[in-house]
Amino acid sequence: MENFYCVGDKGTPLFILPTCEFDSWKIQQSDFIQSWLNSTSFSGIGLTLIPDNNTGNVLQAVYFVEDVNAFWQCGDLASLLPEGKYLFKGHDKHRDLVAFGWALGAYQFDSYKTNSKIKAKLVIPCQKDLKKYSDLVQGIVLVRDLVNTPACDMMPQHLAETMQDLANSFGGEFNQWVGDELLEHNYPTIHMVGRASEHKPRLIDLSWGDTNAPKVTLVGKGVCFDSGGLDLKPGAGMRYMKKDMGGAAHVIGLAHLIMAFNLPVRLRVLVPAVENAVSNNAFRPGDVIKTRKGITVEIDNTDAEGRLVLCDALTEAQNDEPDLLVDFATLTGACRVALGTELPGFFTNNDAVAAGLIQSGKKVDDHVWQLPLYSPYKDMLKSNIADLTNCAISGFGGAITAALYLQEFVEPHTPWIHFDVMAWNNRKLPGRPIGGEAFGVRAMFEYIQSRYTD
Ligand code: BES
Ligand code: ZN
Ligand code: ZN
Repeated sequence: MENFYCVGDKGTPLFILPTCEFDSWKIQQSDFIQSWLNSTSFSGIGLTLIPDNNTGNVLQAVYFVEDVNAFWQCGDLASLLPEGKYLFKGHDKHRDLVAFGWALGAYQFDSYKTNSKIKAKLVIPCQKDLKKYSDLVQGIVLVRDLVNTPACDMMPQHLAETMQDLANSFGGEFNQWVGDELLEHNYPTIHMVGRASEHKPRLIDLSWGDTNAPKVTLVGKGVCFDSGGLDLKPGAGMRYMKKDMGGAAHVIGLAHLIMAFNLPVRLRVLVPAVENAVSNNAFRPGDVIKTRKGITVEIDNTDAEGRLVLCDALTEAQNDEPDLLVDFATLTGACRVALGTELPGFFTNNDAVAAGLIQSGKKVDDHVWQLPLYSPYKDMLKSNIADLTNCAISGFGGAITAALYLQEFVEPHTPWIHFDVMAWNNRKLPGRPIGGEAFGVRAMFEYIQSRYTD
C-alpha cells in the first residue's frame, strides 16, 4: 500500500471543494492567486495547482468536484497530480472518501510493466487510519490483481498459493483436494471440467475465525481460463477469459476484508479451481455426470462449465449448515445483456437478505441488482436422459436458468446469495481503470458487517 499513501503530517495542502463554491472561494483569495486563476482560465472545474509567488513551487492543490460526498469524486486525482506528497485539508467526514477514491484510482496493474507512472502519494496523518484505508483498499486491489494476472501465471495452483498465503497471514486453516483426490473424495464435476488441463483441478478450502461464531461460507468460480472446452469459444469471446476466475478473486478479496476487520463470523471460503481446456480427455457434450449431491447432469454445452464446478462446491458448502452462503461467479454472458457490464446481478432465496443487501450497496455506492429465481423456467433445464442438463434449451433468460441450476444444489432453508459478475471494467471511469474489477464486494462486506455486528 506504500504506493498510494505515506504516513506523516507534511505535504502540499490539498483542498477538495464543490464547484458551486468556486466564486465565493475565489474572492477570498489573494490578488496573486486570483490573477493566477484568471490567467489559467480556471473556472472551478477540476484541478488547479497554485504556485508560490516567489519560488514557483506548488503552494497548494485545489480540486473542484461536482459533489464532495460522491464516492468516486477523487478517483482521477492521483493521476492528475505531479509527483509529491499531498495532505488533505478539509472536513473529516470527507477524508475516507478522498483516501479510497485516491487509492482505487491510483491503482495500476504494473507487474508486467517496467515503469509505473503515478508518483503522487496521499499523506495520512494517523497510523490507525492508514491501516483502515490500506485494509479496505487491499481487498479491492487483491481482486483486481488476481483478475488482471494472465492465465499463464494464474492457474489453479496459483489461486491455491494465494489462499494459503491469506490463511497464513490471518491464522486460518488451509486445505485442498488436488487432481484424483477430487474423485476419491467425491467432487466429480470439478474433476471432470478440469481434467483436460495440465494444471490439475482442485477444490481449495480456507477456514478462519471462532468456530462458535455464525458460519459464513463464500464460494467463488475459479475457472482460470475458459476456452469453452470442446464447445470452443470464438476468438473474441475467448479473449478476456483469463478473468473467468473472477468469482474466486471476489471471494478472496471479500475474505481478506472479513479477516482484516476481524468480523465475528466463522468464515469458510471454497474455490473450485480449474482450467476449461481442450485435450483428448476433455469432457464432451452428451456426457452424463453424477454430481456430489447425487443429481445426474447431462452436458449439453462444455462452455457452461462454471455451474458444474460450482455445484459440487455448493454441495460441500452445505455440510456445516452455514448461516449465510454466498457465491460469486462470472457465470453468464446473459447477465451482462440484462444489466450491462457495470452492474452485478444477484439472486437469492431470501427476501430479507435481498432487501438488506440492496440497502448496503446503496450505502457504500456499490450498487447491486436483484434478478428473479423464476421457477417456471426450471423446465428449460430438463434432460431426456438425466435429472438436469447444464445448459437451458433456450438462451433467453440465461442468467436466470444458470441461477436456477445452482439453486438445485442449495438447501431451501440456507440463506443463499448468488452473484453473476463481469469482474472487468470495459471502460475507464473515475477510480476504475480498465481491467479487473470487484463488483458487489464492498456491498457484501457492508451487509455481512451489518448482519453480524450491529
Ligand atoms: N465464463 C462464461 C460467461 C461469461 C462470458 C461471463 C462473458 C462474462 C463475460 C461462461 O462459462 C459461459 O461461457 N457461459 C455461457 C453459457 C452458455 C453456454 C449456456 C454463456 O454465457 O454464453
Ligand atoms: Zn464457459
Ligand atoms: Zn466460464
